[in-house]
Formats: sequence, structure tokens, C-alpha cells
Amino acid sequence: MDLNQRLELVSVVGAAGKMGSGITLLLAQEMVRVSMLPENRDKTFRLIAMDLDPKALRGLQEYVRIQALKAAEKQAVGLRALYADRPELVENGEIIEDFTRRVEQMVWPTTDISAVKGSKLVFEAIVEKIDIKTMVYKQLKELCPDAFFFTNTSSVPIGLIDSQAGLDGRIIGFHFYNPPPVQKLVEIIRAESTIEELAEVAAEIGKRLRKKLIPSHDVAGFIGNGHFIRDGLHGLRVAADLSAELGWPKAFYAVNRVSQDWLLRPMGIFQLIDYVGIDVFKFIQDVMDRHLDEALADTVIDRFVSLGVLGGQYASGAQKPGFFTYEKGRVTAVYDLEKKEYLSVDGEGWSAEVDTWLGALPEGFRPWKALLRAPDQNEALTAHFAALAEMSNEGANMAVAYLERSRQIGQALVDGGVAYDAEGVNGVLTSGFYHLYGPINDFCR
Ligand code: CAA
Repeated sequence: MDLNQRLELVSVVGAAGKMGSGITLLLAQEMVRVSMLPENRDKTFRLIAMDLDPKALRGLQEYVRIQALKAAEKQAVGLRALYADRPELVENGEIIEDFTRRVEQMVWPTTDISAVKGSKLVFEAIVEKIDIKTMVYKQLKELCPDAFFFTNTSSVPIGLIDSQAGLDGRIIGFHFYNPPPVQKLVEIIRAESTIEELAEVAAEIGKRLRKKLIPSHDVAGFIGNGHFIRDGLHGLRVAADLSAELGWPKAFYAVNRVSQDWLLRPMGIFQLIDYVGIDVFKFIQDVMDRHLDEALADTVIDRFVSLGVLGGQYASGAQKPGFFTYEKGRVTAVYDLEKKEYLSVDGEGWSAEVDTWLGALPEGFRPWKALLRAPDQNEALTAHFAALAEMSNEGANMAVAYLERSRQIGQALVDGGVAYDAEGVNGVLTSGFYHLYGPINDFCR
């Protein structure tokens, strides 16, 4: 069976979650393209979007409609080739409208797992709990005897899912990054048992979705979370130390600012944990803690989870409260773990005190967004980190220690045989987390 035949019936399980929604969108767009090829016009293509939450499925349909329209508008010229023999659709607007409608209609939402029956490709993006994944895969195996399974697991070893669910090597790790339509990365994880044909199909799908494919060995957490979780734990430990002197809100605020502005990252570390979800961070952390010979627990994360302060996003895409509350992406208040309430950033002038305490940023500082497409990005990074190394205020000291820890984590992923090489680690951070530079670099030496 070739890939286009497999694309005739595809399922996404866990389709209405943040990752599942993005994966559904990307696959539906590709399936529409394939369905419009002359040789496929008399065939039926269908994407079954399965999720237990009917309300979230309605949100998924809305998400697909809005994002498919946006993507079609961006690709209007490229889409014309697909419509070459449709002379009645001459205007870009008509093509955009038609393509968007096809993408919407490609997606068949359902809460019934049996609707995935007979799928040839199944993408799974459900909760990061091994027992639940195993139970679902046992059902999927019966329903889809010919399918290849693509798990978006962020941390569970693929070989473990395979052996527990008895998939006979018909599974591969195909790990998107949040948000899947934006981040270029798909981390590819082959279990020892993964069959060759599936690995080839995965490579081809990755290429069709225009993703950068980076292989990771099948070690819990892989490269991306191997770095993210440890990087987050570093931030949490620094904040815990600082909290004794400054209190929790100031500590969270300070570490978040340094890890964003001083390190020139798109988000500070606690904003990123909120974005991913504090509960999701903990699920991944727990899996890694269980499977690796390294203590990866953290009491601050546990406290947030037990308080039900979990971050993550609403169906609208707006950020839920976590370490911080947000308004249009801007931090507006910080959680006080002792008082169990949010402290406004703007109100009391305390954030200005912390800013003063942190000290100045390197001269000529430009934030991540300004550097993202700057023609002199490389020179700017070199100048920023060279200046940082010469500074000795609180912010700079924290940043230098942060960079060093990030480098150690990256290097350990190479030395410990998780990543194939330093380029793999750097590629994951730049194409999955939108960093401007990888952790193993010459900028920060
Ligand atoms: N779906 C589709 N497009 C989206 C989107 C979504 N959910 N969220 C944002 N976008 C698009 C926006 O529409 C915008 O597109 P245009 O440029 O065409 O207008 C673009 O992304 C940039 O968004 P914004 O202008 O709103 O904001 P920004 O420039 O600050 O970028 C961001 C937002 C892309 C999320 C950026 O802040 C970022 O990359 N942050 C880091 C995120 C990260 O690290 N992700 C990895 C987390 S770890 C993980 O995913 C793996 C795991 O296993 C836990």
C-alpha cells in the first residue's frame, strides 16, 4: 500500500487537544492536496478526528476553519497548480474559499473510538499516561489491523508502548512541537522493533508536511523533553532559592524574565511551562523520573498541580492561569504559592523593584521577536552574549548560569546517546522551541 492509499483513511485520536488540533489541521490540508490529484478524484479521503470531549471537538472544527483559511491565504499562489483544470475558479479568493471548505469537510469529528475502524494511518495525541495509551492502542490494534501508528508521545518509550500493546513494530514516535502548524520540528523516534516500511512512510509524511525531521533514540523524554524538563527544573530550583530572599512572586517573575530577555528566548521558562500546561509538564516529568536513572521530581510543580493551578489553553487559544495570568500574551499577575493568590504585576511597583535588582540588559538588547528575522541575527547574538559574559549584575549572573546548565543538558543528551549529535540537540531547540540558537554553541563560551 503506498502513502497516498494510506491517506485515504486517517485517524487522529485525541484530535481536540492542543497538539491533536494542530496535527489534524496539517494532515487534513495534505489529504485535500492528495485528493485533488487527477488520479484520486474518484476516491474518498477522510480524516476521523476522535476525541472524548464533544465540546472540544466543536472547538477543533472552529480551529480548523480559521487556520485552514489563514494557511490558504498565505499559499494562494501555490494552490493555483491544484486548480489548473478548474477554469471556473479564477480568482485567488475563490480558490482559497474552495480549499478551505475542502479542508473543513475532510475532518469527521467523533467521540466514538470505533469510528476509526479500518484506518490506514493513526496519529495518537492522548494523555501522557502509559496505562491509558496501552489500553487505547489495544483497542486501535483490533479496529485497524492494517494501520501504521504514529504516537505524539512526548516522553513514553515507543518500544514500551509497542510491547505492552502488542503492535508488532507498527508504531513510531512522530513528535510534533507546540503549536504544530508553527514549529518546524517533528522528532522521529524508532523503537528497535519499528518496521522499516513504517520508518519510510514516516519520513515521507514528514517531508510532505514540510517538517524538519530529527531522529532521537528511544529514551524517555527523547531530545526535546530531555532538554525542556531539565531546563525547567533548573529554573524552578533557581526560583526556589531566590524565593527565600524575595518571596515566590518576585522569584518567578525574575527567573522568567531572565530566561526570556537575557537568553533571547520566545518565552520565559515559566511562561513556557504554562503554555505547555503545568500538568502536562508533570506527566512528562513523571514518565522520565520513572524510566531514567535520575531524580526528576519537583515539589513546586507538585504544589501547583495539587492546587489545580495548571496553565494550558482554553479552546479559544487564550492562556489559562498558571505561574502567571496573561492578557493578550502579556504577563499580568504572578501566583503567590504561600498566599495562593495572584499578585498583579502592574499594581504595586514591585516588578519595577525586581527589574532594578536584576540590573541592565546587555547594551543594544533586542528581544527575540525583533531578532527572529533580523538580517544581522548572528552578529547580534554574538554581541549580546559577549556583553553578557562581561557583566556581573544579578540578571547577567543568572543568565550565564542558565546558559551553562542548558549547555550541560544538551551535551549530556549527546554523551548519553539520546541525541545522535550536537546538531540534533541544537536543531530540536531551534526548530521545536523556536530558539534563535542551540544550547551547544560558541556564542556563550
Ligand atoms: N496554531 C496555528 N498558528 C498559530 C498558533 C496555533 N495554535 N499559535 C500561534 N500561531 C501563529 C500565529 O497566528 C502567528 O502567525 P502569523 O505570523 O502568520 O500571524 C505566529 O504563529 C506567531 O504568533 P504570534 O504573533 O501570536 O506570537 P509570537 O510571535 O510570540 O509566537 C509562538 C508565538 C510561536 C507560540 C512563540 O512564542 C513560540 O514559539 N514560543 C515557544 C513555544 C515552544 O517552545 N513550543 C514547544 C513547547 S514543548 C512541546 O511542544 C513538546 C512537548 O512535548 C511538551
